[in-house]
Amino acid sequence: MTHSISAKQTHTKIILMGEHAVVFGEPAIAIPFGAVTVTATLTESPTDPTIDCAFYKGLLTNTPDVVASLYHLVSLLDQDLNTTDNSLALTITSTIPPERGMGSSAAVAAAVTRAYFNYFDTNLDDHTLRYYLDESEKIAHGSPSGLDALMMVINHAVLFQKPDHFISIPKMPNGYLVVADSGQTSQTKTAVAMIKQKYDANDAETMASIAQIGSLVKEATHAINQEDLHTLGSLLTANHEELKKLGVSAPIMDALQEVALQQGALGAKLTGGGMGGCMIALADTNESALKIADALKALAKEVWVHPLKEDL
Ligand code: MEV
Repeated sequence: MTHSISAKQTHTKIILMGEHAVVFGEPAIAIPFGAVTVTATLTESPTDPTIDCAFYKGLLTNTPDVVASLYHLVSLLDQDLNTTDNSLALTITSTIPPERGMGSSAAVAAAVTRAYFNYFDTNLDDHTLRYYLDESEKIAHGSPSGLDALMMVINHAVLFQKPDHFISIPKMPNGYLVVADSGQTSQTKTAVAMIKQKYDANDAETMASIAQIGSLVKEATHAINQEDLHTLGSLLTANHEELKKLGVSAPIMDALQEVALQQGALGAKLTGGGMGGCMIALADTNESALKIADALKALAKEVWVHPLKEDL
């Protein structure tokens, strides 16, 4: 009988506030997002090793640049676990829109790493899993903060600071997040590299925006503790303004934000790497969230409504 093993990553992440600045040591807040999953399946391959995913189907040795992080991860896992050189076929199925700032690359890497460890009957602890995710994210994002990797092994909201300081946020307020996929790919690697270049050149506006995002996140932590959704909403919107100054918004992201605010959102911003990807809007009631979601559907590819306080 053919040996076949599947493993799932059953959630990904939404960055509530602090993306990009987190790469430079400022804090960020992220929550798990369970509306999407990714499954990796390993079977014996009748040919040389293969990969079958949304971007590429074929021999492992011929993978294009778009799956470079996956190639790197599989090579590393083969080297560490597949010591007798079994020829494996890896299939990835995902409901996570790729390259939309939802942590799809980290979620794929988590499912693949789990599948490998299951296939070779080896115990996998969270620390080891995060090592492989960090390795894969270095290729996917250039200089990752480690937040996306952390969120794959955590099922509640966190306040995170590089290199590895995180505290749980035990009580999120009773609001709703509307998540809108713009349908345009997020360009995390390009965006991170662009900001890093300006940061390394000590560009005054860039330094000011990074520091300002850090302050907004600290205020947001206080607003969350006070269950003050209205203040949290305005902080989200202020965070979007700083991301715009950093040059990582896009016309579609600004348009989605404007529609959400017009429809009564308490605040709205892009989430993740930006230059496309997803926008999040905060609503105080489910009814208000559904109204915002309905209006966003005219512009967005897909829209989800997600309770802010939902742990997975
Ligand atoms: C990407 O999901 C979040 C960024 O802050 C990059 C990172 O933290 O590695 C843009």
